[in-house]
Amino acid sequence: MKVLVTGGAGYIGSTATSILLDRGYGVTVLDDCSTGHAESVDARATFINGSILDAATVRKALAGVEAVLHFTAKSLVGESVTKPEIYWNTNVNGSRILLEEMRTLGVKRLVFSSTAATYGEPKEIPITENSQTKPTNPYGASKLAVDYMITSEAVAHGLAAISLRYFNVAGAHKSARGWLTEKHDPETHLIPNILRASAEKPLKIFGTDWPTADGTCIRDYIHVVDLIDAHIAALDAAQPGTHEIINLGSGGGYSVKEVIAAAQSSVGHAIPADIAPRRAGDPAVLIADISKAKSILKWEPTRDIQAMVSDTWESFH
Ligand code: UFG
Repeated sequence: MKVLVTGGAGYIGSTATSILLDRGYGVTVLDDCSTGHAESVDARATFINGSILDAATVRKALAGVEAVLHFTAKSLVGESVTKPEIYWNTNVNGSRILLEEMRTLGVKRLVFSSTAATYGEPKEIPITENSQTKPTNPYGASKLAVDYMITSEAVAHGLAAISLRYFNVAGAHKSARGWLTEKHDPETHLIPNILRASAEKPLKIFGTDWPTADGTCIRDYIHVVDLIDAHIAALDAAQPGTHEIINLGSGGGYSVKEVIAAAQSSVGHAIPADIAPRRAGDPAVLIADISKAKSILKWEPTRDIQAMVSDTWESFH
């Protein structure tokens, strides 16, 4: 089967591309490299360096394709508050163009990268797919809008679709061509920031006064390779005329201090860290209920926080 991977030059999309190719899928990558990196695209893929906002380019990228893994997105929560227009354009308009071109060309299978940010501040832990969706920033709102768009496309036009709501993706993938890892600029994510912390530039722990056992925020971390395994399962599981929404996490949580402790055992020295004020918009605890992923995708995460930290550490060296 030939698959279009939008955003295939990014951290998660390039990992998907490499693993799909290893498993015998044909892959076309569409990415404008505005945040992705051309050198991350596996040489076995057909690479179209262009924008999802250009319908003719999207049409070209869909040639011969049977299914789409749609990763292209702007994904910085803070930036989405100051520049919402970019999020509505790339995330929502880009997805609208993709769906339209898929419909025209009869491409009827889609797996979409949704996010836990669609839920906002949770009222219940763990978060299920039936929990309230009340995003607290334009990033989450734009992804929720796309989820609605996909539901209506499935109902009206028979698309087979699954949205995967990611919690905290971490770790790295060792491909035959080398490590595929996080290369964000600016880097906002906890694990890369822990591993890059130095005496001159210590990690900032955003708050130690949260209502958790050790006072730091708890998140549900999932290894990027487990995440891609779930995408490949979703490609098969999607049913015509149906849009399933499925959480992807590990189903358990780690506090910021626990992640720092895991990192210390990987790097073999103490992580320089300062206590900083809370970061705006951070909920105290986010943990996924992953029972739906287990039952529909017949999938289980297998890589723990230690693997996420040590793979990221190795990928940086
Ligand atoms: N943190 C620090 N210091 C840092 C970076 C992060 O203390 O330098 C803390 C944060 O306050 C948070 C935790 O570490 O408590 C994790 O933060 P990340 O930035 O790594 O991840 P988030 O939970 O904020 O964000 C993730 C995804 C977003 C998504 C969001 C909500 O990266 O795309 O979950 O689902 F929107």
